[in-house]
Amino acid sequence: MTESVTITDNRTGQSVEVPIVDGAVSAAEWAKLLPGIWFYDPGLGTTAECESAITYIDGEAGILRYRGYPIEQLAEGSTYLEVAYLLLNGELPVRAELDRFTEEIRQHTFIHENMRKRFFDGFHYDAHPMGMLVSSVAALSTFYPEAKRIDEPETRRRQAVRLIAKVPTLAAAAHRFSIGKPFVYPDVSLSFAENFLSMMWRGAEPRFEADPALVRAIEVLFILHADHEQNCSTTTMRVVGSAHADPYSACAAAIAALYGPRHGGANEAVLRMLTSIGSLDAVPEFVRSVKEGHGRLQGFGHRVYKNYDPRAKIIREVAYDVFEVTGKNPLLDIALKLEEVALADEYFSSRRLYPNVDFYSGLIYQALGFPVELFPVLFAIPRTSGWLAHWSEMLEKNTRIARPRQVYTGQDERPYVPLAERG
Ligand code: CMC
Repeated sequence: MTESVTITDNRTGQSVEVPIVDGAVSAAEWAKLLPGIWFYDPGLGTTAECESAITYIDGEAGILRYRGYPIEQLAEGSTYLEVAYLLLNGELPVRAELDRFTEEIRQHTFIHENMRKRFFDGFHYDAHPMGMLVSSVAALSTFYPEAKRIDEPETRRRQAVRLIAKVPTLAAAAHRFSIGKPFVYPDVSLSFAENFLSMMWRGAEPRFEADPALVRAIEVLFILHADHEQNCSTTTMRVVGSAHADPYSACAAAIAALYGPRHGGANEAVLRMLTSIGSLDAVPEFVRSVKEGHGRLQGFGHRVYKNYDPRAKIIREVAYDVFEVTGKNPLLDIALKLEEVALADEYFSSRRLYPNVDFYSGLIYQALGFPVELFPVLFAIPRTSGWLAHWSEMLEKNTRIARPRQVYTGQDERPYVPLAERG
């Protein structure tokens, strides 16, 4: 039997029955009864903007799957490039497909010399790396004008490969620029994660050798951050993409959304919060001040997860592996205490606020030597594949341009007053 809801317009007595399909009701069906009456949904918290077959989240149960595969299994057995392929193509690659994809990515890791020499040199010496990433990704569209041909599947696929390959290069270039060190060219003999670390850290040595445990940690962090369905930046990618902008411009917009402290900036905020708390003794007082409305507990709460974020559980384990190599981050004890105090507190439990992915990721990034400004950049690198998977999916479905309505609350019509008569 088909499940449905019936709504009645009490002004006219008319009713419409709307079927519930895949856990959703069609707003278009609903609107037939209510032309000119809009669904008021600030923050789009109860709106499904699209159909998508990429990522499944059950926020109540704390479940996250990419293309049906549980995130725990992907984090355990996969590499970031396998996961990027999965997100883009819907299936895990067989060996030959993965080799081809990896090789293609490697070949596209280089950026145009004008980007490196002229574009980056134009930034102020203390430019935030996320600002540099937003603008340099947007600038890529000027190097690949073919990217405008968004209706050609092969052209779309090529830009996706370029973006996944070049974002780490731009990210590392932004970092090297901000510390005044020379740019390190990609090393195509290294894996995706190793090459990123090489571009970040290589000094005078001829070849950068990274600790395998740290490389694996980066792979896992990249896998965990690769997609998260219709979050703020992915929605931005889709909204800009729905206007048929090229993928570099849409991706730059998505990175700009990710720059915000409520989204990709949260792990930076976590680290600043833990540093300002300073000691275990200060934790209860800090929690009290949050409950009194003085700021938020950064790295806690989520629009979708009303349970422990499954990514946070995996990251907590990874943190211990990293600290075995790097030594323990002294802020870890404060984080653990904060989690313990908050989880036992009625304020947080009644609002179902649990640690999210950002609560522990900043501690790992700091232990790995990344400056806090780079944290959102480290989020943007893997999320690029998720954004592109959604962008392609949207274009394949020939989605309409995003154009929501509003509830107008401004002035009624009033006559214009010339400047001389005002005041
Ligand atoms: N600390 C204290 N109180 C909180 C927090 C928090 N971190 N998050 C939510 N609340 C309270 C909020 O004050 C509200 O209380 P009340 O009902 O009394 O007014 C209630 O919980 C519901 O909050 P909301 O603002 O309606 O929740 P939201 O779904 O709009 O916001 C959020 C989600 C992630 C923006 C928010 O929880 C937050 O600001 N968290 C801290 C920042 C953070 O960690 N962001 C990273 C998100 S995960 C990365 C990603 O996937 O992008």
